[in-house]
Amino acid sequence: MTSDDRILRVLVLQGPNLNLLGTREPGIYGRQTMVEIHEELLARATELGVDIAFFQSNHEGQLIDWIQEHEYNAAMVNAAGLTHTSVALRDALLAVGLPFIEVHLSDPSKREPFRHVNFLADIALESIVGLGARGYQLALESLVRRWGAGSLPSREVDGG
Ligand code: DQA
Repeated sequence: MTSDDRILRVLVLQGPNLNLLGTREPGIYGRQTMVEIHEELLARATELGVDIAFFQSNHEGQLIDWIQEHEYNAAMVNAAGLTHTSVALRDALLAVGLPFIEVHLSDPSKREPFRHVNFLADIALESIVGLGARGYQLALESLVRRWGAGSLPSREVDGG
């Protein structure tokens, strides 16, 4: 094992329209921008010694390409509207075996019926919903706990 294998590498994957946070339906999603959320996450990740990366796209295929082309130990995924529609995004997460926590600012299960369909929840480590931007911080802390406990499936084993 090299020293790098001990550092948790986390991807924050943000789906369509989350780039508009701050002005997008603030009564539902709050006034914090995505950049502000990412800045807070980066600060906390730095405190925790976590290597964190961010990727947002409005395009399903770009999200899938990113998952396929990069390596992380774990992710937090807010797939936004794709949560309710995308078999392909689900398949990509399964294909590369990326353990992830599902995050939603709102609680989709308390909203319109079409948001009750969820293609990711049953394959996520856990779902953190309805807590606004704080949900991302909680997801980061949960991933760090899991990593420390050796309970993230993709963690490399020390071959001696
Ligand atoms: C969301 C909930 C989704 O239903 C919606 O399509 C979004 C945002 C959330 O964070 O609350 O774009 O993922």
